This record gives sequence, structure tokens and C-alpha cells, in this order.
Amino acid sequence: MTAPTPLIAGNWKMNGLAASLDEARATAAGIGQSRARVAICPPATLIRPMRGALAGSAVLVGAQDCHPQASGAFTGDLSAEMLAEAGARLVILGHSERRAGYGETDALVAAKVHAALRGGLEPIVCVGETLDQRKAGDALGVVTGQVRGSLPPELAGRAWSVAYEPVWAIGTGLTPTTAQIEEMHRAIRATLREMFGGDGDMPPILYGGSVKPANAAEILHAAEVGGALVGGASLKAADFLGIINAL
Ligand code: PGA
Repeated sequence: MTAPTPLIAGNWKMNGLAASLDEARATAAGIGQSRARVAICPPATLIRPMRGALAGSAVLVGAQDCHPQASGAFTGDLSAEMLAEAGARLVILGHSERRAGYGETDALVAAKVHAALRGGLEPIVCVGETLDQRKAGDALGVVTGQVRGSLPPELAGRAWSVAYEPVWAIGTGLTPTTAQIEEMHRAIRATLREMFGGDGDMPPILYGGSVKPANAAEILHAAEVGGALVGGASLKAADFLGIINAL
């Protein structure tokens, strides 16, 4: 079995105006011979200009969410087809900030995964436990339950990834130990094999939550870690490059 190609994706969240495209350009210019695929997921308003700014580079552009439907009376929402037309190649789905802030359930995330595949976007599906759930000893059960509920069978044979992001590690500067990351990633891999058979070996399992240049090498080289989903540290090219070039 060959290991999946790693993916390092930046999640800009609700950050970035046109001037921020310089950071994306500097990221693209500074990548050496990375083994990883690299993506930046800016706010939707920057997808098209970022595609222009990164033309000719290997850095992919992604979105941060999509609606399950292709079109309709859904004020304020964007469909996978719209995001793909704007230039997105990937889409983050089920981020904990959407699960917590907008009540997104596993079933809704699975419907969005379906929409992403329909629209030609590669899903990055996020899962992760809260601190209370970890303290209660429920982390493995919660996360493998999210994996089972959020990943529809039609992912088999398609390009996609899972991002394990402990909620308590996002934006806090806290990270799990390497042993905790490896334990969770192995449990996710075992669940993917149960669900998808041999295809369960294909998607990279990213780690996300306070990944920084200083901890990137250790995290990225941990067992079953196939890349990173990076929030705050993806906003500045120097930091993001320090993570990308740690692999
Ligand atoms: P962080 O965010 O790197 O700022 O912790 C990660 C994420 O939310 O994807």
C-alpha cells in the first residue's frame, strides 16, 4: 500500500481582503520541492481573484463551506457549482465552527459532501471532539461516530480527505500529544477501512488545531498523519511556508 499524497490546506476563515492576496502569492513563490499538495481556502469573495493571483503555481484554491442544493431560494448561501465556477477545487465541510455555530449535523455534512462531489469539488471533511468529550473519555467514540455519519458511501473512489481537529486545539495554542494524535488517526483509518474497504486507505487524514512552524515537523511525521489543516498560521506566508516546508 502506498501512503496517500499529503495535503496541507490553509483555512483563512473570515479573514482576508484583496491585499491579502500578496500572502498567497508569497506562499506560492516560497514552496520548495514539497511532497504535499498545498491549498488555500480563502473567504468565497477571494476565490476568483486568488485563482488569478496563483495562476501558474501548484497551489490549489478551496472554499470553506457549500450548500447541499445546486441552486434555489437560500439567501446568503453558495452552492458547490458556484464555488467551482469561481475557481475552487476543494471545499472544507463540517468544520467545528460550523457544527457549533450553525448547528450542522453529521447528516447535513454528509449532504454537503454529496453536493461537493456533484459540483466537482474535493471535500475536506472535519471531525473532532470537544474538551468535555475528551475529559469524559469519549473522544474516540465521538470522532469515529462523526466519521461514520458525515461520509457518504459515494466517496469511494473519489478524491477527498478527513481532517481531525480537536475543538479544544483550534485557535488556542493547545495541541494533543503526538501519541493522542496517532491514536485518533489510527482509529479514523480503521473506521474508513470498515466503511470503504480498500478505498479507506486512500484519503489522507489531516491534523488541524494550532499547527505552527514550531510543531509542524513532529505532527506531520506522526503515524497516519497525511497533512494539516491550518487556520491562523496560514494567513502569513512565512508561517504557512514554515509548515509546508517542514514535511
Ligand atoms: P488554527 O485553526 O490552526 O488557527 O488552530 C485550525 C482550523 O480551524 O482549521
